[in-house]
Amino acid sequence: MGRRIACALVVAGLVIPGAAFAARDGLDVAIGRAIFARLWVPAPASTRHADGLGPLFAARSCASCHSAEAGRTRFRLGRDDPGQDPGLVVRLGSAVGAPDPVYGAELQPEGLGKVPGEGRAAVTFAASGKPFWRLEAPGYGPLAPDTAMSARVAPSLAGLSLLQRVPEAAILARAATEARDGVSGRPHWIEGPEGRALGRFGWKASEPTLAAQAAAAFTLDLGLSTERRPEGAGDCTSSQAACREAPHGARPGEPEVAPDLFASLVAFLEHRPTPPPPAPSPRGVTLFASTGCAACHAPSLPLGDGAEVAAFTDLLLHDMGPGLDDGVGEQTAASAEWRTAPLWGLSRTLAQGSGLLHDGRAATVADAVRWHEGEAAPARARFEALTPAERKTLVDYVSGL
Ligand code: HEC
Ligand code: HEC
Repeated sequence: MGRRIACALVVAGLVIPGAAFAARDGLDVAIGRAIFARLWVPAPASTRHADGLGPLFAARSCASCHSAEAGRTRFRLGRDDPGQDPGLVVRLGSAVGAPDPVYGAELQPEGLGKVPGEGRAAVTFAASGKPFWRLEAPGYGPLAPDTAMSARVAPSLAGLSLLQRVPEAAILARAATEARDGVSGRPHWIEGPEGRALGRFGWKASEPTLAAQAAAAFTLDLGLSTERRPEGAGDCTSSQAACREAPHGARPGEPEVAPDLFASLVAFLEHRPTPPPPAPSPRGVTLFASTGCAACHAPSLPLGDGAEVAAFTDLLLHDMGPGLDDGVGEQTAASAEWRTAPLWGLSRTLAQGSGLLHDGRAATVADAVRWHEGEAAPARARFEALTPAERKTLVDYVSGL
């Protein structure tokens, strides 16, 4: 029924664009919110537009990993059991970004019917605190010898449409300026169906748009096909025969997620509110710049229309050194390279007890900085050389973003 209303208004929107636009927009977002929360079911089911889950999957809905209020998942590595946490995704691959030949690009712990789940991620820690992942109860034999595991927490979805709007030229200009400061951020170019595009989303900036990210989530996390990624069997490889042969929700020539519902979901993602601006802290701002944090965590990026976005990221990849290198490359991002994490909304992430860094291993800002090596080593050294009072001012400022 929701679908029928959407279509009617889209048609109305075409007839009287100005007048109908706001209403159509609001309705799209409302439908998108419902799709985001929808618990998908296995095919075939009587509820045709809600089936097609799996056969291998990591969760049943977007909302089981990303909270409806769009904060980061609450998982903190070292405190919470990764095998129990649905807000975690484990990427599989080699250092040069090749997926595992049997398990594919992501671990799907859940399987439907006769299709066994792929197993659970378990972790141990080196003396340094660096996590090492292994596959427990593997459903399809051992991982390939050069396959490593990269655990990622589900990020907050707040303000993402602004990051999508930053002009490509502004990001490339940043990369050129940074090179002068001894930091060498580089764009993550992605070869996709629409040609070469600049990656912006995900911990390694592997998806250029929110639509591309949502399509990847449907395939990899939920096992659902979309127009962008029509493969019905999700991340099942040719070695996972039962998975490839299991029923899926698509009719020939049609994806499991109908295009209009997909468009509404993207509209919902594009309308997530922006994190509120931090309380003023002139001293904090100065220390953030003089310590070198701002070289990567750009306090502002232009939006191209005179406005700016204060997300504290440059959307570029940086080599962060061995402590954050988990052995999994992705597209052309090396295993030690990560996108500068946006720091806006950090106060909320900390308040809800979520871990920091891509795998949620750090409990505080100082803890996160301790893992900054590689290109960030000079900034970390300056951070450690601050007086205790200065360090507290800087940490309080960042913790309040
Ligand atoms: C099993 C958990 C899980 C599910 C289900 C899931 N996500 Fe995610 N999502 C993640 C993780 C983890 C990341 C970070 C991925 C990475 O960096 O590799 C992410 C990243 C994202 C991002 C990019 C955020 C950013 O800051 O760059 C968006 C947008 C997103 N997901 C939307 C969705 C949508 C829409 C759905 C449903 C179709 C969905 N996700 C389903 C875990 C999940
Ligand atoms: C060379 C670039 C670079 C510099 C310089 C840098 N960072 Fe980062 N920062 C990153 C990247 C990349 C990540 C994401 C790493 C990951 O998740 O594995 C990150 C992550 C973080 C996080 C965790 C954010 C989150 O959402 O989990 C915090 C906090 C942080 N940085 C604070 C700082 C502070 C404070 C400074 C200055 C002392 C600093 N950074 C300097 C690149 C940098």
